[in-house]
Amino acid sequence: MRSKIVTGNWKMNKTAAQTEALLAELSGKLPDTEAEVMVAPAFVNLTAAVRNLESSTIEVIAQNMHFAESGAYTGEISADMLLSIGIDTVIIGHSERRAYFGETDEILAKKVVAALEKNMRVMFCFGEELEDRKSDKHFSLVESQLKNALFSLDANSWGKIILAYEPVWAIGTGETASPEQAQEMHAFIRKTILEAYGTSIANSVSILYGGSVKPANAEEIFSKPDVDGGLIGGASLVSDDFIAIIKAI
Ligand code: PGA
Repeated sequence: MRSKIVTGNWKMNKTAAQTEALLAELSGKLPDTEAEVMVAPAFVNLTAAVRNLESSTIEVIAQNMHFAESGAYTGEISADMLLSIGIDTVIIGHSERRAYFGETDEILAKKVVAALEKNMRVMFCFGEELEDRKSDKHFSLVESQLKNALFSLDANSWGKIILAYEPVWAIGTGETASPEQAQEMHAFIRKTILEAYGTSIANSVSILYGGSVKPANAEEIFSKPDVDGGLIGGASLVSDDFIAIIKAI
């Protein structure tokens, strides 16, 4: 079902003690909200994070996973491992995974299928580079990222998909897409899903915006009709900023 979602992607930040401290601050200050609030700490801190948030409504999710069930994949983490510590939502396709770790649409499609087979929820990230936007290819690029990784799924699977549109030029740069640019792309994404899967699925999928969301710009971005929340990097590492962004929704 389409819900409002605010997720903090902590990336490769925070030691065990820092993770515990930030989680304590967040759960202590969490405002009443209808939005789902999620955080994605580093793998090594997930078990403790789940334990720390046992009596909180904040959900702990993973930043990545491998598509194989198990086996000789040094350094990787499987869906079953995440499920075994109480995590059933995973981010797949973050632009940093695509850019620095060679994750192609083909690999991401396999990861999505692997997660769905285990009944996990997938937060699927995608978005264009600056070059694509400058050469007016951003719509076709986003369309192909969606089609390549998600459009072989059957209609039922869409209940487990959350989308996160993150223009690469806005991630960690301080440069945000304008609320109008975000809305324009989100409407295009919804239309693309509508054409492939019909109105009901298009209207029920949550589409988050990510890329330099801050307390100062969150409210305006979240006010757009096709923006259902945010995937927050840098600002999610500071409890007051993340709480302010949750309040903005
Ligand atoms: P940012 O990161 O908020 O630091 O731009 C967003 C993301 O990468 O998910």
